[in-house]
Amino acid sequence: MKTLLKYLPFAGIIAINSLAVAGGYRLEGLKPYVLIISSIVLLNLILAILLKVRSYFPYGVSGIVIIGAFFVCFVPSLGRIYLENAIAGLYLGLFLVAVLPPLFKLDPFTYEFSKKNYPEIITKTDQFRKINIIINYIWAGLFGISIILSIIKYSNDGGIQVIISSVVPIVLLLAVGLPVNIKLPSILMQTTQGEQLHFESIKELFEAMPHGLNKKRAKGVDTIIQFHLTGEEPTEGYLTIKDFECTYTTGIHSNPKTTITSDSRLWLAISNNEVSGDQAFIKKEYTADGDITILLKLGDLFASSTEEEVKEEPREIQFTYKTFKPGQINKIVVFDGGPRNTKFSKTTFMVNHFCRGAKSAGADIEYVKLKDMKINPCTGCYTCWTKTPGECIFQDDMIDLRLKFRKADLIIFASPLYIFNVTGIMKNFLDRLLPNMKPYMLVEDGETKHPHRYPEDKQQGFIVFSAAGFPEVEHNFDGLKAMFRCLHSHSEKTSLMGEFYMPGAELISQPVYAERRERIEQACSNAGEQVVKEGKVNMAFMRAVADAEITQKKFQEQADSFWESLDGKSSYLKSAPKLEYTTDT
Ligand SMILES: Cc1cc2nc3c(=O)[nH]c(=O)nc-3n(C[C@H](O)[C@H](O)[C@H](O)COP(=O)(O)O)c2cc1C
Repeated sequence: MKTLLKYLPFAGIIAINSLAVAGGYRLEGLKPYVLIISSIVLLNLILAILLKVRSYFPYGVSGIVIIGAFFVCFVPSLGRIYLENAIAGLYLGLFLVAVLPPLFKLDPFTYEFSKKNYPEIITKTDQFRKINIIINYIWAGLFGISIILSIIKYSNDGGIQVIISSVVPIVLLLAVGLPVNIKLPSILMQTTQGEQLHFESIKELFEAMPHGLNKKRAKGVDTIIQFHLTGEEPTEGYLTIKDFECTYTTGIHSNPKTTITSDSRLWLAISNNEVSGDQAFIKKEYTADGDITILLKLGDLFASSTEEEVKEEPREIQFTYKTFKPGQINKIVVFDGGPRNTKFSKTTFMVNHFCRGAKSAGADIEYVKLKDMKINPCTGCYTCWTKTPGECIFQDDMIDLRLKFRKADLIIFASPLYIFNVTGIMKNFLDRLLPNMKPYMLVEDGETKHPHRYPEDKQQGFIVFSAAGFPEVEHNFDGLKAMFRCLHSHSEKTSLMGEFYMPGAELISQPVYAERRERIEQACSNAGEQVVKEGKVNMAFMRAVADAEITQKKFQEQADSFWESLDGKSSYLKSAPKLEYTTDT
């Protein structure tokens, strides 16, 4: 009944138009028909008001029919214009329906349609309202164009004129307006920042989740999460996230990837950000079985993008790395400048997996832990350049290490990030390489360098590995990166082949980061294998390591709660999980 009340005025105006064409637009002859139709439309309008039909259509279109009838009866000159342009009148009614309500702070007319596809918790947000206003004005524009198209004279033949002036706007409305209505809300919801929703019930939460998936962050996610919620709102249901889409199904899935068992109130509080999900998990207030790594992503997957994410995509690493011919790299020497042992050093972790890959491809690897070597700091006396060329005043382990350095096809510089650069241990070592150069100046490729002391030495490559606490590569690694790139551009024989910077490194020893850890292991091992077999390192491997896979906010929460748990109680190395791997080279 309500649908009939909504759309009857359209039939009324189309009937008036058809009669006007058939009756040759003669006012007197048409008047009785116009009056009958307008009366029916008026009656329809009264009924629509009484029955509270929630649509602007009967009001806008009926208004045009009734005003038109008034002109036909009392202002013949305008009445004739109305009869000749009844379809334009219909579009005028629709145009007003689109333009007027938002001006009076009423819901845009598109609300009525888009509401049907979204749960109430979403439709009542400001973001949803704004999106609808945008769509509403697109429709207003289309109705405006339709008014013009329907009054343009295409042909002297009245029938052809009516067909064209009606068909062209309808095609336009269907071809542009409908896709806008269907596609634009979800596109805009992904690209504009939405507010944090507050869920009153689990039912409301699960209704909203399929619409709240952040597609930018859902790349590669393919999972089924089963929920067993108990207590106040017992719920059995599962979320399927795949191909950038999320669906919720009530019931029990036969093979979910993760199963979450929680009290329903607690889960609601976690979803509303009133309780930290990480803390609740650590305190075993809820349990998760199967792939628990999804717990880390869940919050971010359903949070709207930050301003930075909306604005820009991550920047690419831009550098032309040195490549060698396949088979040129056989002898690899690792200089590890970290103070930690294998069980805790994330830098060593990367290098060990790199060496595993290189070894499998046949490389001969030597691993030097610099902290265990006797290396005096450089005194700046330049004796190695003057009195005893090529020889330092210190008779320490550097004699042997400098030789090892020269004989390598590939050098690995491994150092954790300490105050935005390498460790003191590594810097000490680098300084003591000075005897391998001559004091003279060489200007090459726009750079002033020192010549290499030994002309017989071959060209060699080097790769840098560094792990850092902070979750960003950008700015954090700038100092270290610049130093090694200077080494590359100022060295006659030694060229940069790749850089592996792992931000947010301390996290990878946590069991929930198993997936990320595996990706890093794989990327490093593949790089090791590739460098020996092909003489180069793919950028994709460096990128896999450089992706912290965590937002700054999430990182902050986790790091803070970790440090808080140790505050005044324990040392890091006693409490942090050890790295579970054994490929010590
Ligand atoms: C003295 C010191 C300075 C540090 N400076 C930074 C820094 O500038 N930026 C950063 O992100 N992390 C910094 N960290 C954190 C370490 O880079 C992080 O703990 C990393 O995992 C250490 O690597 P490793 O596990 O190989 O020892 C610093 C740590 C120490 C002890």
